[in-house]
Amino acid sequence: MNPQAVVTGASSGIGLELAKVFADNGYDLVIAAEDDAIGTVGGELRGRGVQVDAVQADLSSYQGVEELVARIRASGRPVDALAVNAGVGVGGDFVRDTSVDDNLEIVNLNVTSAVHLTHRVLADMVDRKEGRVLFTSSIAATTPGPFQTVYAASKAFLASFGQGLREELKDTGVSVTTLMPGPTDTNFFDRAGMQDTKVAQSAKDDPAQVAREGFEALMKGRDHVVAGSVKNKAQALAGRVLPDPVKAKAHRRMSEPGSAES
Ligand SMILES: NC(=O)c1ccc[n+]([C@@H]2O[C@H](COP(=O)([O-])OP(=O)(O)OC[C@H]3O[C@@H](n4cnc5c(N)ncnc54)[C@H](OP(=O)(O)O)[C@@H]3O)[C@@H](O)[C@H]2O)c1
Repeated sequence: MNPQAVVTGASSGIGLELAKVFADNGYDLVIAAEDDAIGTVGGELRGRGVQVDAVQADLSSYQGVEELVARIRASGRPVDALAVNAGVGVGGDFVRDTSVDDNLEIVNLNVTSAVHLTHRVLADMVDRKEGRVLFTSSIAATTPGPFQTVYAASKAFLASFGQGLREELKDTGVSVTTLMPGPTDTNFFDRAGMQDTKVAQSAKDDPAQVAREGFEALMKGRDHVVAGSVKNKAQALAGRVLPDPVKAKAHRRMSEPGSAES
């Protein structure tokens, strides 16, 4: 029987490409996203010769995560790999441009649902002494993120969460890897309302390449991978030494509304 992978946010972008890589490596899939397009994506992925269960659930809600967990358990099969990838951002001035609800959705999806789903799935992995978990964080985790403040903080949470869990689990047979992409060519910037920013208009990485690098790092049991361009790797390295106020200023130049024009 094939191993099984669960991929959240698999209807587009990095998650869709992760699901394809898992399928091409012989994993049956449970994929999840909020909108009904996930059903169509499920059909396309089945064309790669694996079993796919497509779950439409709003993972920013407690109930949505429980629905996904119920579907995973209904398969009666263990989860060999979990990719906690679904995430959204919101651009703009925190006080004037974004609503409380926008920001709480980021926390609910990127942080709360990641903790919730990971706890449920890890319990079984630890019992079986086997499994792999991949968190899609971001190089945004390495810097304060003005005009994307809650988003960058949510990705810093995931990076810390992943590394902490990895150490806790080191003798359990379960391995945790954090994927840190830079700007990637997906729906992300459009959805975040950031098309007028320099970062949204800059060169971006191919989500298929990012997903491949994430998958390879996961299979090798690496703690993290900065995916994509050399520029991302340099930025992540610089992030280790530069003071936060300096990084925040640099980030501002890329993310401030209207910065695409300057
Ligand atoms: N693109 C970048 O530059 C970049 C860089 C670093 C990290 N990342 C991270 O990569 C991950 C994937 O993003 P992406 O760039 O591939 O963007 P994307 O194409 O917009 O994909 C986002 C995915 O998350 C799903 N999703 C959103 N809200 C959801 C909800 N409430 N419940 C369930 N699923 C939901 C979407 O499904 P629906 O359309 O059905 O809602 C979609 O499948 C995110 O965690 C993001 O933070 C992206």
